[in-house]
Amino acid sequence: MAWILCSKDIISTGLDEFLLGVDVWIEKPYIINRRLSCSCLTWQSTFHTKPVDIQQLKDHINNKPQKEDLYIQLLTEYFENNTEDNLEIDIQLRKLIPKQTDRHSNIYIIICIDRSNGSILSFPIEGENENHIIPPQTVKWSIEIGNENHFCLWVDTGSESEEILLQHPSINWLKLTLFPRVKTWCENKPLINSMPTLKYVSADRYSALYTELKQKYGPDLNWTERSDPKKYVYEDIAIAAYLLIIWEDEKEEKKLESKQSFIDFGCGNGLLVYLLTKEGHTGLGIDLRKRKIWDIYDCPLQLEVTAVDPTANTIYPNYDWFIGNHSDELTPWIPVMAAKTSYKTNFFLLPCCFHDFDRKFQRTTSSKCQYSSYLEYVEEVIDVCGFKKQKDRLRIPSTKRICYLGMNRNYEESEMAVVNERIDAFIKSRSSKRCEVTSVEDSSVNFVPRCAVEPVLNCTQLDRNFINEVVHLLFNHLLNCDENLVVTSNEDGNTKFWRAGGERSVLDLALLLGKTKLFELKSQCGGLQTLIRNHSHIFQVLSGSVSIRNYTQSVTRPPNKKQKLVKQSTIKRRPCWFLENHPDGCILTSEMCSFK
Ligand SMILES: C[S@@+](CC[C@H](N)C(=O)[O-])C[C@H]1O[C@@H](n2cnc3c(N)ncnc32)[C@H](O)[C@@H]1O
Repeated sequence: MAWILCSKDIISTGLDEFLLGVDVWIEKPYIINRRLSCSCLTWQSTFHTKPVDIQQLKDHINNKPQKEDLYIQLLTEYFENNTEDNLEIDIQLRKLIPKQTDRHSNIYIIICIDRSNGSILSFPIEGENENHIIPPQTVKWSIEIGNENHFCLWVDTGSESEEILLQHPSINWLKLTLFPRVKTWCENKPLINSMPTLKYVSADRYSALYTELKQKYGPDLNWTERSDPKKYVYEDIAIAAYLLIIWEDEKEEKKLESKQSFIDFGCGNGLLVYLLTKEGHTGLGIDLRKRKIWDIYDCPLQLEVTAVDPTANTIYPNYDWFIGNHSDELTPWIPVMAAKTSYKTNFFLLPCCFHDFDRKFQRTTSSKCQYSSYLEYVEEVIDVCGFKKQKDRLRIPSTKRICYLGMNRNYEESEMAVVNERIDAFIKSRSSKRCEVTSVEDSSVNFVPRCAVEPVLNCTQLDRNFINEVVHLLFNHLLNCDENLVVTSNEDGNTKFWRAGGERSVLDLALLLGKTKLFELKSQCGGLQTLIRNHSHIFQVLSGSVSIRNYTQSVTRPPNKKQKLVKQSTIKRRPCWFLENHPDGCILTSEMCSFK
């Protein structure tokens, strides 16, 4: 075995930070290796003495797939090369599960972490079959902190020559990806303190089921919605895989005779209902708005258009699980409805938008972000409802990944009435009416389901004359606020001067418009900024400053494919706004201008 120094850097941290940094890679290698789904610890032992108890290692490894001789050889070599006495070596056997379990098989690696001296070593071990090549794990490597803050990456040449080894694609990955990322994690407070993912399901089973569902349902789904199919389909497949495993375990643990039933409140496109129904669970999806895709699922589904009023004592006793998957206004009500329905009703809650019982959620402290404050509030609701909190983090594309399971109560069934009273008092205490009335008795909750027709809130529904008035006001203000002239040529090649005006911040322009106009714009959501964005053919915004668009300047960002297509299709179809409205006309010649 010959180790060669592959990369070297200076690091500004000590041993503790180093160990935290490498832990990020150990626990979450998928952050930098997108082909991996997770890393499972299958065996671990810490050795304080030399020689390491190889027999113990061997006994364990003998139960593992093949190659035990190789493990022993690797480890013996490692310890032979380490002559330090004060060792604290943590040895872990890890199974790395790929995302595409159909294309790659699981692979095993042995990791040795020298906690006394600051080094980590990764030994690759062959997978369960030959189809396992996930590059970085095919090379033996080590990262260590040395004297004088040196931070080094070593690789083992094995039987290869140094020249051949250095051309191996894994080496580039180790040098350019792994090494700098581990350094960053060591130097900055690493992510290791963040919540672990998929705490309540086995990573193995989850990965296998996720892949299976993806193959089974992904390609055939005829997505008719406007939303991004990749995001929604894979997100719901991931949630379905998670729930199916939770339910399978629950069924076994509680010796249930049949598969659990469910209601998905605010089911939207109904995809989760579809997946869970296809997998043998009876379920109902409720939403106040029907979606086109409901009609084209290839199996009969129970999807219902209803505006759920959670205050109306609507009880669904025949369902085992209540699901609130990004269920908007219904989010805080899901644990409440589950608690009040029956002692056995469970829930799954994935909070997204911030809603209190009868209004938007308002955080009381600015020291935390809105999402953290909202999760704290949801946890309080869960607690008041008498559930033992089970918090997990899903592996989904959405940035709001924290979910809650309510499957166990922290009170006896005989105490249900007391708990219900407690819940009612809590809801009253948060009621928006409470702020307006003097007696707590009057402060009942005023839940109003949202309108079934989604309002269009992008300033496009405003009166056309009003929009034109605002656009002209802004344009004239920008035109006259500074005297910048652009010198260009007209159709005949003669010099032409074009007034470009000046630039003003969005705030200045808001002040110019005044309260009434701003209020009218705001009522259509987005307000002034949206209006300016919708008129990007007239205005340009650079670093927060608005100015009149000058088409002779190079475009700051190249148009994407979609924009290019739109551009081609709009050529010469729409009149040129500048020709009609700018006192100097269009800055471009008619040949160059893409408008009529
Ligand atoms: C953000 S969407 C999520 C949809 C779906 N669960 C998903 O994750 O794709 C929230 C859904 O809740 C529905 N919703 C909100 N309040 C509701 C109510 N009171 N009754 C029924 N559905 C409601 C909305 O119509 C919307 O489809």
